[in-house]
Amino acid sequence: MEEAGAPKVEVVDLSRTDFAENVEDAFRHSKLVLAAASYDGGLFTPMHEFLHRLQIKGYSHRKVALLENGSWAPSAARVMSGMIAEMKDVELIEPVVTIRSRMKESDLPALKALAEAIVKA
Ligand SMILES: Cc1cc2nc3c(=O)[nH]c(=O)nc-3n(C[C@H](O)[C@H](O)[C@H](O)COP(=O)(O)O)c2cc1C
Repeated sequence: MEEAGAPKVEVVDLSRTDFAENVEDAFRHSKLVLAAASYDGGLFTPMHEFLHRLQIKGYSHRKVALLENGSWAPSAARVMSGMIAEMKDVELIEPVVTIRSRMKESDLPALKALAEAIVKA
């Protein structure tokens, strides 16, 4: 995203950082990239809780991109987009990118396209 011209990019690991600060950061920025693993046919629990907190705090009027990881039946993006759809005026930045198992060279074009779309949005 920085290569594509984003002026400021902040990356946090929801399973290792303070939840309240992450929620605060989400409200501070105009765009958000949600990157999460599929988990038991749904969404990895820290991301699920994070989105639930954003929902109850009235997260709105922003742009969100989705990146999911999964191995046999990726499901994280479906759950994240469902939760985002319930928020007021939160626009999805396309394309939604799926990475199966570990990231590969062949995933790079889709990630670059997403980075450029995020910067342009
Ligand atoms: C407990 C657990 C549940 C998972 N559930 C799913 C799932 O429902 N669908 C899916 O596609 N991947 C699932 N995964 C895979 C992860 O989303 C992730 O893709 C995987 O751990 C990445 O490493 P690997 O595919 O190289 O093992 C699960 C992984 C774990 C550990």
